[in-house]
Amino acid sequence: MKNVLVTGGAGFIGSNFINHILNESDDYNIINLDKLTYAGNLENLKLSEDKKNYHFVKGDICNYELVDYLFQKFQIKFVINFAAESHVDRSILGSKVFYETNVIGTNVLLEVSRKHQVKKFLQVSTDEVYGSLGAEGLFTEKTPLSPNSPYSSSKAAADMMVQAFYHTYGMPVVTTRCSNNYGPFQFPEKLIPLMIINSLNNKKLPVYGDGMNVRDWIYVIDHNKAIDLVFEKGKEGEVYNIGASNEMPNIEIIKLILQHLNKGKELIEFVKDRPGHDKRYAIDSSKIQNELGWKPHFSFEQAIEHTIDWYLENKQWWSRIISGDYLKYYELQYNKR
Ligand code: NAD
Ligand code: TYD
Repeated sequence: MKNVLVTGGAGFIGSNFINHILNESDDYNIINLDKLTYAGNLENLKLSEDKKNYHFVKGDICNYELVDYLFQKFQIKFVINFAAESHVDRSILGSKVFYETNVIGTNVLLEVSRKHQVKKFLQVSTDEVYGSLGAEGLFTEKTPLSPNSPYSSSKAAADMMVQAFYHTYGMPVVTTRCSNNYGPFQFPEKLIPLMIINSLNNKKLPVYGDGMNVRDWIYVIDHNKAIDLVFEKGKEGEVYNIGASNEMPNIEIIKLILQHLNKGKELIEFVKDRPGHDKRYAIDSSKIQNELGWKPHFSFEQAIEHTIDWYLENKQWWSRIISGDYLKYYELQYNKR
């Protein structure tokens, strides 16, 4: 039995990861440490909450004493760090909490992990640390870090710290850098769930700039299977890019969502561009494919339909979110554009 501290496990990717891993195997005892920020939601974990090998702790990864206590209490030897402030637009509105959680929080986890001699520390990172591509080329693990947003710069700082703990202390770390995810339980501030929910509510769909920025989309389960594999088999000190080679301009995704929901293009509204908007992300995932034997299983066509249907069937989940504090954010973000 592996005692694994999973941080940020009430968020989009972390909750999908916990539900997936506890369903696949009985080898893990999962301790989910999550601050339950606006993005954390325990409803995402209904499939796992009653399992004996799942424990939830509400708390902040920046709290050294709490993290140290949890390592002692649960004899933690493994860490998977999902916890982060994750939304670029919010980081543009205010960057402080991004550096607190993503940089200081990661530092606390690393220091406590060093003290307790963890056997593996997996840092969940993002392709956004590489910056932006032109029309050609792909991010490889050798692409220099060149982040452009407060969000991506805080993630890049954390990645460098993780590497420093490997080089300086020989800590057994691995880092994954994945492209844009979509799937169930994604908070409706991100492109795909926002566009699905606005369409369902006949609200305008705010497209930044000309809608031609490109992202490389991967279904969340494919990402989580890759994390599982890197956690088990990844080589210490290494970085693994994860992506499904599915590049699409934003406007095409939005049209596809409208089509699937039988809604008209008049909902589309081109708005002022995001400041510093990265033009294109695209991942070369040949390293994880060749060295660890991972490959994506879901086609975009199949998984995006499943995702749209999930939001159709889970109105209760998102209705609660879009009333409340979310509205304030939405007003701030979109009505001023
Ligand atoms: P999310 O915003 O949905 O969830 C983040 C979770 O972290 C929430 O449950 C939140 O409550 C928790 N959290 C935030 N601050 C915390 C703190 N100080 N202490 C403890 N918990 C805290 O994010 P996500 O989309 O699930 O992303 C998870 C990770 O994957 C992040 O590290 C992100 O950078 C990375 N990532 C995301 C994507 C994507 O497309 N969403 C792509 C690549 C990498
Ligand atoms: P997002 O989901 O915020 O992910 P990221 O910025 O981390 O890639 O945005 C994906 C793309 O969609 C990005 O190019 C910005 C664009 N976008 C819009 O055009 N309108 C929106 O309302 C949002 C949230 C994003």
